[in-house]
Amino acid sequence: MSSAYHQINELKEKLEYHNYRYYVLDDPEVPDSVYDRLMRSLMNLEEAHPEHLLENSPSQKVGGYAVRSFAEVVHRQPMRSLSNGFSKQELDSFDRRIREGVGQEEREIQYVAEPKLDGLAVSLRYENGWLVQAATRGDGKSGENITQNMRQVLGDATQLAGEAVPEVIEVRGEVFMSKRDFATLNDFQRSKERKPFANPRNAAAGSLRQLDPAVTKSRPLSIYCYAIGEVVGVSLPSTHWQSLQWLRSLGLPVTELLAQVNGVDGCLEYYNEILQQRDDLPFDIDGVVYKVSRLDWQDDLGFTAKAPRWALAHKFPAQEEVTIVENVEIQVGRTGAVTPVARLKPVFVGGVTVSNATLHNQQEMDRLDIHIGDYVVVRRAGDVIPEVVSVVMSQRSEEVRKFIFPHKCPVCFSPIVSEEGGIIARCSGGLFCSAQKKESIKHFASRKAMDIEGLGNKLVDQLVEDELIDDVADLYGLTVQTIKSLERMGEKSANNLSQALNASKKTTLARFLYGLGIPLVGETTAETLSLYLGDLETIMNVEEDHLISIPDIGPIVSRSVVAFFKQTHNKAVVEKLVAAGVFWPLVEKKIDNKQSVFSSKTVVLTGSLSMPRTEAKTLLKSLGAKVTGSVSSKTDYLIAGEDAGSKMEKAEKLGVEILDEGEFIRLSSLDVLSFADVSKE
Ligand code: IVH
Repeated sequence: MSSAYHQINELKEKLEYHNYRYYVLDDPEVPDSVYDRLMRSLMNLEEAHPEHLLENSPSQKVGGYAVRSFAEVVHRQPMRSLSNGFSKQELDSFDRRIREGVGQEEREIQYVAEPKLDGLAVSLRYENGWLVQAATRGDGKSGENITQNMRQVLGDATQLAGEAVPEVIEVRGEVFMSKRDFATLNDFQRSKERKPFANPRNAAAGSLRQLDPAVTKSRPLSIYCYAIGEVVGVSLPSTHWQSLQWLRSLGLPVTELLAQVNGVDGCLEYYNEILQQRDDLPFDIDGVVYKVSRLDWQDDLGFTAKAPRWALAHKFPAQEEVTIVENVEIQVGRTGAVTPVARLKPVFVGGVTVSNATLHNQQEMDRLDIHIGDYVVVRRAGDVIPEVVSVVMSQRSEEVRKFIFPHKCPVCFSPIVSEEGGIIARCSGGLFCSAQKKESIKHFASRKAMDIEGLGNKLVDQLVEDELIDDVADLYGLTVQTIKSLERMGEKSANNLSQALNASKKTTLARFLYGLGIPLVGETTAETLSLYLGDLETIMNVEEDHLISIPDIGPIVSRSVVAFFKQTHNKAVVEKLVAAGVFWPLVEKKIDNKQSVFSSKTVVLTGSLSMPRTEAKTLLKSLGAKVTGSVSSKTDYLIAGEDAGSKMEKAEKLGVEILDEGEFIRLSSLDVLSFADVSKE
């Protein structure tokens, strides 16, 4: 047989294996991105070699299986999947097919755009307003009977609301677990020494497909409905948009992130808006779905074997990929923390190329059972640092090697001591260890600290190795002459660096404090210390009791701050820095006990503001507000800059108070009482 035939068979086998792991075991081994690529390859090969396309191919079937432990439910209308698109071109050709299909070549199509929830599809059958049967999708033709379990998830929505309930209505939706509930469930699993779930989708699937409904009840699951199947006794509205509103009026949960959009441009605008919100949403989504709104057109367009022709899932860039662990190395941080780091074969994930991922500690390596040479799933979501999620065990070769955690620091050979029950391993060399020295200087120079432009990591390494500097204060003693003598350093760069060093002397107290690298004092804590204590002298001599009384500062941080300034070495460095001319403007001390207008309020920012977003966020947080990404009924204020879009519309719809930037700035300097006066005016 031809090589295409063999390739097709190999792909089919892999896809069947992954389908089984995903749908039956609720324990997928590879991320969706890898699955999608395998499916793409299979579909391309089958298209090029139609003689090898068989009905039982995974490309022709909806993924799952019905498992024998649950009774079988045969779907009266098949539960189909969705076609995927990953690019604008694919969206363009989808839209072209639709326009041609409904004879509207010159007109824009109205679509309903929805988030593509990453959970599991269910069908809910209501008769005379009561839930009589719920089923999983299974293989699309039949699924598992999960009626009892769905009653636990639906709560009040087990019975439809309103007077005019249809005789029969079959509703389809996605059951999912919120990110927060997933984290809580996994903490619980770990506390009971049970295997944690890989992601919220698995947790949802595993929780719903429990034989004991009491277990399902104990797991926080939610559902959003997105389609209607069979209906008897009433006629359907004429658009999908109206159908969703109708479902809502029947008391069924329907997401608020829906939009009616026109043509490809409208779809893309929605896609970008939701992509921006992705990390701030309370649940996982892996893309958006566009559906032709007119139901008569949906009927005209019909279905392929697997999916409706009138809908497209526009997937987001993958946040998980598979790559190889080429090595594991030990990194020594600025506080001496010794961390194993996986050196990875570079992989594009979450919008960047990832070639390193922290493995945290020995326990984490044991938990993952990670070896050098393993294939691993790497995840990078939003701005979160990349992490290794799991090992692809089925691809482990015999050549993999175990990494042995060292007992001595690989840089200064001091003993590594273990703290916090073995979770933290620390080099005991202190600033004698050149790795710690280098890292503390890099931190001091970094953008969010003293922001010394041109002082890159390599340069710091060289300065320390050549013994030209021993601590951060020595940086300000460097002459242009000395800098020029360094490798690959021309006259111009040396002058630039010298100027940058000088310029960095003018800073803020918060940046300076952060730059000192006091253990546990990050940017926010540094800002709080600066805001509440006001000057360096006070901070250097503050007592633990006083620190604890400051909002958001706990006993551990307090101890760390006091201990830092007790050390003569640290005091000397601070004094040297001030003597070298480091200075900052006076800080206006925050007055305690004054409640701001924004305290305990949920605030959303949208549109372009004249101040940077991060600054606006910090300001709001310092005033006690919670800043979130999307507008909901829980939002108290929307701060809208120029060109505010859909968030503004939504806020208006929900009656959320909208402030422009001017009002925001004015209110941020008012306390609650004066706000009350102003609003009465
Ligand atoms: S509509 C006939 N809408 O994605 C069309 N599906 O990859 C049926 N999904 O099986 C699906 N969010 O489990 C639809 N807004 C949404 C969705 C959605 C998530 C899931 C659903 C489906 C799968 C296909």
